[in-house]
Amino acid sequence: MTSTSTPSLRQTICHALHECRLGTLKLVEGIDRDTLCAQPHPDFSPVGWHLGHIAFTEAYWLLEECGGQEPLFPEYRLFFTADGLPKAKRVELPSLEFILDYLAIVRSQVFQYLETAPLEQQERLWRFILQHECQHGETIALVLQLHRFEDVTTHLPIFSTTPPLPLSEIEIPAGEFSIGNDSLDAMDNERKIHRQFLDRYWIDRHPVTCAQYRQFMEAGGYHKAKWWSPKGWDWLQHNWVTQPLYWIDDPSFDNHPVCGVSWYEAEAYCNFVGKRLPTEAEWEKAASFDNGKTRTYPWGEDLPTEEKCNCNHLGKIIKNKPQTTPVDAHPENVSASGVCDLIGNVWEWTSSDFAGYDGFEFYPYSGYSQTYFDGEHKVLRGGSWITRPWAMRCSFRNWYHPHVRAILAGFRCARSE
Ligand code: AVJ
Ligand code: FE
Repeated sequence: MTSTSTPSLRQTICHALHECRLGTLKLVEGIDRDTLCAQPHPDFSPVGWHLGHIAFTEAYWLLEECGGQEPLFPEYRLFFTADGLPKAKRVELPSLEFILDYLAIVRSQVFQYLETAPLEQQERLWRFILQHECQHGETIALVLQLHRFEDVTTHLPIFSTTPPLPLSEIEIPAGEFSIGNDSLDAMDNERKIHRQFLDRYWIDRHPVTCAQYRQFMEAGGYHKAKWWSPKGWDWLQHNWVTQPLYWIDDPSFDNHPVCGVSWYEAEAYCNFVGKRLPTEAEWEKAASFDNGKTRTYPWGEDLPTEEKCNCNHLGKIIKNKPQTTPVDAHPENVSASGVCDLIGNVWEWTSSDFAGYDGFEFYPYSGYSQTYFDGEHKVLRGGSWITRPWAMRCSFRNWYHPHVRAILAGFRCARSE
């Protein structure tokens, strides 16, 4: 092939899997055994488990299910499968050397299989496997961040304050739009594309910043029940939270998005300013709607890069320093409607419960999405500063329990009148 010809699907997939893996491995370069095996938060498995699970999942779907091969390391099957052991049992890990070998052996066989695999029939699965590694990579990065964020009292130098960003809202006129994504990149929960009518609404141009959120804290936000829902107040009484998990009391972060809040904190802040969280449909329309057409990314069709938005920053986790950027730092990260910073920087909580769209069909297994259609999970949109480019787009849906704070999540507000 000459360097100017269009890469084939096989080459595109091979390149993406390779690039994705470089990031995954960079994350764990020089990791010590404690950090590999410890579980700094009960909601998340140890770093080493995620690595082995990436290898297991890739081998299971591509080598066993597609290639008809015998399982590799069958003695580790139960250990690394998602529905095997409880998270607390996942600390008894094999050595880092073994886990890295496991990843490499699986990958070399996968690349060998890729040379002749019938991709026309399997493209959706290969794209799933790529995004599966992306998502576990993000979880590894955030477990590493939890290890390193234990001592949040470390002092950072105070830089000069940035002028506060004026609050600005975008009006989205009433009307129908297409929600969802039917492409081979889309996860099962993004399908099918369907038309949805939304009344007129207003959505914040930017995610809620630390300066804005500080006003809630200074008004006694964490101590006054009036802004909290009964469930949220109950959660607060049992958790004694007084600031976002990744909060750093330094005005140089004033224009950064608030990061490390539960859905309940987001809800309370919205009540404080007399607004509400957007529904996921409102979020998606603000991101993708372009005069009757649908954009894959707010700016159009080009894959996210670090220039376009704050994403893909694996392996650059600095102790106690969040890697968010000011919400207006990426001028290209703007939708046709004029809404900014939707992709990357922080995941954004929405008011919506995670549920299947009409006619939902699971892929490749019901445990990917369907298990979580239980009315207990809230949808997040957009992606964080860690999210890999292949796992973020206007239609991508993430989900967590409303009490979860360790993910890199903020929010923006919306209102109807
Ligand atoms: C969509 C990020 C909540 O990590 O639990 C990975 C993604 N599903 N393997 C998770 C996922 C199966 C999922 N999240
Ligand atoms: Fe998984």
